[in-house]
Amino acid sequence: MSRAEAPSRTGGLAVPERFAPLLIEWQRQEGRSGLPWQLTHDPYRVWLSEVMLQQTQVGTVLSYYPRFLERFPDVSSLARASADEVMALWSGLGYYSRARNLHRCAQVVMGEHGGVFPETAERLQALPGIGASTAAAIAAFCHGERVSILDGNVRRVLSRLLAFDGDLAHAGPQRELWSLAQALLPRAPTHSDMTAYTQGLMDLGATVCLRTRPQCGQCPVQAVCRARESGQTQRYPVRTRRVLRRFETWWLLVAQDTSGGGQRRFWLERRPPVGIWAGLYCPPVFADEATLLASLEAPLREQLRALEPVAHSLTHRELRLHPLLLDLGEAARTVGLPPGQWVEATALAAHGLPAPVRQLLSTRV
Ligand code: ADE
Repeated sequence: MSRAEAPSRTGGLAVPERFAPLLIEWQRQEGRSGLPWQLTHDPYRVWLSEVMLQQTQVGTVLSYYPRFLERFPDVSSLARASADEVMALWSGLGYYSRARNLHRCAQVVMGEHGGVFPETAERLQALPGIGASTAAAIAAFCHGERVSILDGNVRRVLSRLLAFDGDLAHAGPQRELWSLAQALLPRAPTHSDMTAYTQGLMDLGATVCLRTRPQCGQCPVQAVCRARESGQTQRYPVRTRRVLRRFETWWLLVAQDTSGGGQRRFWLERRPPVGIWAGLYCPPVFADEATLLASLEAPLREQLRALEPVAHSLTHRELRLHPLLLDLGEAARTVGLPPGQWVEATALAAHGLPAPVRQLLSTRV
């Protein structure tokens, strides 16, 4: 065995030393390049991209990222913004706790770090909304720190590579895989090596080592992959606990005021600060149809018109939305409605709305 192929040992499992150089070379030749957040070492810009990319596809982020940066070009402008404006710019990206943490994090960076992001992954992790993997990505991309990312995709890639059969539902095996990820890092890397390696892990997980149909024939590390060798890619990662999605039905009272001619208004309620769609604007929500009806005076109930239900998936919930439309003319000025406020249709863009609600109000009503 040549020196380059000699495996190093960590906790009993050998890691292939060829992995890092193969991955770096592949990323430089074939990986994703030229994305706006790859053209900078500015921690603010890299941090923003990593938070946006946590649960959102690159294609979607490509349209939100420049708009966000145009309005908030630096951490100080973001810290000074109102929560409403941040939510409005985030609206449609989903997982809104990311936007709330982003705003808080900007305020902590300004208030406690003099407007400069800490440089190490360890210290970045102490900031709101920055987990271990995001902290590692920022430190590796911006400063070349020798530290490994380990998000869901990378766990899959590495557990296949090493045929790691610890159950990732438990903390012990998670820690073990983390040590192995550190052992796999390139030896004495330059900043540019760490950038290519980190991006390579992301690219491999997103484009080759796919969850259901891994493209092993195109994989740059197929020669050192143990799951590939044993034909057992589907066995990894091992995880016993499944996320259970709860089904939930919501009834929405979609009241609109058309008395202003072309100028429509919608009756929207601000969602509570915690829970689903926290802090966003939404038509009043009811757990069942009877409760929605009971919230209205009798003559109004007759005017309700059922719109097509909308299915919407969240991380732990499958929502089924039943919108009931209440078209109000002049009566809009006098009727009693559940708590909420009128919002002009033309002002919706400046309000934070959940994506399915924005879609509903702009296309179906
Ligand atoms: N997912 C998370 N971070 C990413 C990045 N920097 N590039 C592409 N996908 C990502």
